[in-house]
Amino acid sequence: MTIRGTTRVFGVFGDPVAHSLSPLLHAQFAENTQTDTVYVPFHVSPGNLEKALSSLPPLNIGGVNITVPHKEATCELLPALSQTASLIGAVNTVINDNGRLFGENTDSFGFHSDLCNLFPSQPWEEGTVLVIGAGGAARAVIHALQATNAQEIVVANRTVNKAVKIAQELAPEKGQGIGLEPKELAPFLSRMSLLVNTTSLGLKGEEIPGIDFSLAPAQAVVYDLIYNPSRTPLLANAEQHGLLCANGLGMLVRQGAKSFELWTGRTPSADRAIDWLNSFLSSDAK
Ligand code: ATR
Repeated sequence: MTIRGTTRVFGVFGDPVAHSLSPLLHAQFAENTQTDTVYVPFHVSPGNLEKALSSLPPLNIGGVNITVPHKEATCELLPALSQTASLIGAVNTVINDNGRLFGENTDSFGFHSDLCNLFPSQPWEEGTVLVIGAGGAARAVIHALQATNAQEIVVANRTVNKAVKIAQELAPEKGQGIGLEPKELAPFLSRMSLLVNTTSLGLKGEEIPGIDFSLAPAQAVVYDLIYNPSRTPLLANAEQHGLLCANGLGMLVRQGAKSFELWTGRTPSADRAIDWLNSFLSSDAK
């Protein structure tokens, strides 16, 4: 890649940011669409977020992704938000539209489009969906599921009142919140069509207690937002029970591809980027 005087600048604000795969991903998008862009990691501490955002117009930076821990705070700092970002209460994409900043959330799109691409016959759509966790990632997932034909959206969380609140807020008709106790989960596991893990449990090899896949229908899908490791104990367990499984790598790529499209008007091939990222993560280069 060559940076020229004409190269448009994009990036990601995070704290930490060094672990982010987005710079590599966006370099792939730029290459496969032949777009003259560069994507830079910016280490922005919470105290500097407001100043960093307001520096986008004067520096003529076309837009940034927002990652941990800034997604919620960014909502409060922008003059305009999409309806999706406002409902989710989090921004992962800022667009600099001729000096006016606009906040969008492409996580919800990334999750839904990955699910549809992986399981096009949508066996997960017509039944009970179990969402594990009630944090920011869960909000994007519930927002996406709310727009599907899912009949029932059950949010299960260690802190029950957070699950109840998020279900009421984001899925008022189909949603309900429960705890993570095996007894509470059992009736929903036995009729689930899809289970989504949005917690960090599994990042370091942890199991999610209370989940007994021997109860689940044979055609159920299990989706873990974690992509590194590529196979969490939850997915290994689901696989052993013959369930359909996916990790969050496709969601990561598809949310990023959507941001790239919003900024540049060019649509990169998410499938090519998924293949590339899969081989990158399984190689020694990472
Ligand atoms: P994110 O924005 O990535 O979703 P978050 O908002 O901090 O992160 O949410 C983390 C989620 O993981 C929460 O649902 C949290 O449960 P609590 O609301 O009870 O804190 C869940 N979580 C994290 N560690 C957990 C653990 N050890 N056991 C069960 N749930 C856990």
